[in-house]
Amino acid sequence: MTTTVVVGGFFGDEGKGKIISYLASHDSPKIVARGGAGPNAGHTIKDGDRTYKVRMLPSGFLNKDARVMIGPGVVVDPDVLISEIQNYDVGGRALVDANCGIIDASHRDRDSGGMLKEKIGSTGSGTGPANSDRAMRTLRLARDIPELSEMITDVSQEINSAIATGENVLIEGTQGTFLSLWHGTYPYVTSKDVTASGICADVGLGPTKVDEVMVVFKSYVTRVGTGPLNNVLSVEEMQRRGWTEFGTVTGRPRRAADFDMSLAARAAMLNGATQAAVTKMDVRFPRCAHKTEFGDMPDDAKKFILDIEDALGIPVSIIGTGPYVDDIIDRRT
Ligand code: IMP
Ligand code: MG
Repeated sequence: MTTTVVVGGFFGDEGKGKIISYLASHDSPKIVARGGAGPNAGHTIKDGDRTYKVRMLPSGFLNKDARVMIGPGVVVDPDVLISEIQNYDVGGRALVDANCGIIDASHRDRDSGGMLKEKIGSTGSGTGPANSDRAMRTLRLARDIPELSEMITDVSQEINSAIATGENVLIEGTQGTFLSLWHGTYPYVTSKDVTASGICADVGLGPTKVDEVMVVFKSYVTRVGTGPLNNVLSVEEMQRRGWTEFGTVTGRPRRAADFDMSLAARAAMLNGATQAAVTKMDVRFPRCAHKTEFGDMPDDAKKFILDIEDALGIPVSIIGTGPYVDDIIDRRT
């Protein structure tokens, strides 16, 4: 049994949702718990002919045997959460910690104009203002909200009891390392620490209980919103390479740059990563599309992965080769 924490290695949108979805279906965790900021996150998951987009629900919800939980460090927008639970039929096994902060219309308003919107390029989801109220000790919590009463639980107790009885537990982070309030490109960051330590604190998991930290990178770097991005490509070059993307939450175009090895190495350090995942290898190396064996990738793609392992000193254990949950090379066994 293992406790695995999955975090983003760049600026979010590395494809964590799809990786977590894969791990949730293959590693049979009994609990998938989400840390991170709030509904500013957006994960897209494709399974068969369905595309799921989630902002509040943990991405591991596709495993129907897992209970999915939101840790007390996360701010929750009840409308977003309840509609995702209904749309994706997760009722009864989606749980929220009593101490999750609650986003209301005033937070979304404050996030939709002024400095946060214009300078930082915030997602407008109310996440930052809610975390600000939480620091001021004025934010309402989930335990005060009748419409959530059926879903309330003690997430840290649930996780730690599951670990004590030998169950697998999967902890999912949101955003990415360099959007961390402490370790990112301040002030162009989100309103929380989103490195592995912060994610563990969000769900009430002590550092000695973590077995594996998986840092997820995309085969190129993207950034949505404002803030520095080294060696950013022109729009034409982005299109030529097929690296054009749009934000899941805001629909805004993302900027793109080549894979940044020194940034990746720093992310591995900051998260204490024991392994890495690299997604969208098929976008960079079309002949990787839908491959499930390392040996079936072309040589330049293999070299790309081996160079990352050399530079970071950890194995790249999971490789994404397409948009579907099972477009994965799993090298862990
Ligand atoms: P906020 O978190 O909505 O306050 O936005 C702060 C910055 O973080 C903006 O540049 C956002 O675009 C970025 N951001 C927040 N969450 C995500 C995410 O899940 N993926 C990518 N960028 C994000
Ligand atoms: Mg996203």
